[in-house]
Amino acid sequence: MEGIRTIHAALLGAGTVGSGVYKVVQRQKEEMPFKTGANLEISKVLVRDASKERPGIPKELLTENWEDILSDPEIEIVIEVMGGMEPAQTYMLEAMKAGKHVVTANKDLLAEHGKILMETAKANRVDLMFEAAVAGGIPIIRPLKNSLAGNNITEVMGIVNGTTNYILTKMSKEGMDYQEALDLATELGYAEADPTADVEGLDAGRKMAIMASIAFNSRVTFADVYTEGITKITSEDIRYAREFGYEIKLLGVARNTETGIEVKVHPMLISADHPLASVNDAFNAVFVHGDAVDDTMFYGRGAGELPTASAVMGDLIDEVRHIIGNTIGCNVCGCYKQLPIKEIGDSKSRFFMRVQVEDRLGVLAGIASVLGNNGVSIAQVVQKRSKKEGMAELVVITDEVVERHFQDALTVFCSMSTVKEVSSLIRVYQ
Ligand code: NAP
Ligand code: HSE
Repeated sequence: MEGIRTIHAALLGAGTVGSGVYKVVQRQKEEMPFKTGANLEISKVLVRDASKERPGIPKELLTENWEDILSDPEIEIVIEVMGGMEPAQTYMLEAMKAGKHVVTANKDLLAEHGKILMETAKANRVDLMFEAAVAGGIPIIRPLKNSLAGNNITEVMGIVNGTTNYILTKMSKEGMDYQEALDLATELGYAEADPTADVEGLDAGRKMAIMASIAFNSRVTFADVYTEGITKITSEDIRYAREFGYEIKLLGVARNTETGIEVKVHPMLISADHPLASVNDAFNAVFVHGDAVDDTMFYGRGAGELPTASAVMGDLIDEVRHIIGNTIGCNVCGCYKQLPIKEIGDSKSRFFMRVQVEDRLGVLAGIASVLGNNGVSIAQVVQKRSKKEGMAELVVITDEVVERHFQDALTVFCSMSTVKEVSSLIRVYQ
């Protein structure tokens, strides 16, 4: 629209998310003046290789030189969607020091260096927004920071990685093998540049650190999060879990307990009746429990080009409104507490175990007694015939036990001559 101010922004990155953001900014072109009181224009796009074709993005906007953006006084917003630690961190810090607002989807950086980024934003009276960093298109950062700020939040948990949820869904519902499902998730733009971050639970761990920091008002970094991925989950585990009435999901759980903050990401059996059990494909869902609101649930697409661009665009619209309303510099880091972090060994879990044992009289009773004598009681057990002669497979679900005690019991259990192998060990959500 002519006759009103145009706010200029630069995109750092034109991959899955960057190209989505460019598209959504174009789609919203006519609406922007009505929504914000200004036009929004992406006037430069930083990439590694400017000679590569970028469908939909005019070639003249592309640059390989960060200085072109940093030194351009017209650019008021920098949208960092290139990913990784460096040079992304340097660029974001330099942009804020130059008075530019930053919108980012970079959970890796926020989960490790959130403090310095927030402090730099505050010192330079600029905004740092990151709705897209957690759970793709689902609005969860703003609800935690604003709408639910009147609560003492005690738990944030859910499915926060699209790639692994897609893989587990395909393995579980379509019998697809792990690698084929991962290749498809990569092709669809869900996976990180290095998908190890997804399948080993690191990406989910970073998102949990960010959410826990905001929810509990106490800094939690990625190093504080216990992580395990899905690479050891087999189709047998999925099948047996089903027989017991469970689905297997990669869950992130953050709890603010009387003895400290517990933050972990690992595969879990979750009852088929639980709403999270039917969150499939690249969808994510986050549960938040607060002392006033009770339970809330947020659900939507957790990864991909346009859902993630939707979250970035929300931040951009907010930022343009801030600039027009002259309300810049409203960043306040909410981490005013210093709560201790609990070790995984001190948390309590139930366990699902698949164990190969000798198939003879009294073995099951012996196993139950060794586990029982070491403080682990069995809630459910099923014996399966093994393909190997003279062997049987036991599928066990324990009652709740302190993890440290369980590991001690497991050491004794594994030393029994009748126990040949623990094939799987997965926690059970309650
Ligand atoms: P991507 O497809 O790999 O795209 C990265 C883009 O950044 C590419 O255009 C690349 O340029 C550019 N780039 C990378 N390093 C650069 C450097 N040193 N200098 C200049 N340009 C550089 O990644 P993505 O999936 O869009 O993810 C981007 C960010 O969003 C990451 O932080 C990711 O964790 C986050 N995120 C992704 C999703 C998702 O669903 N994919 C969802 C939420 C958040 P070239 O094209 O020239 O190589
Ligand atoms: N790789 C991430 C995922 C992208 O699969 O969830 C969204 O953060």
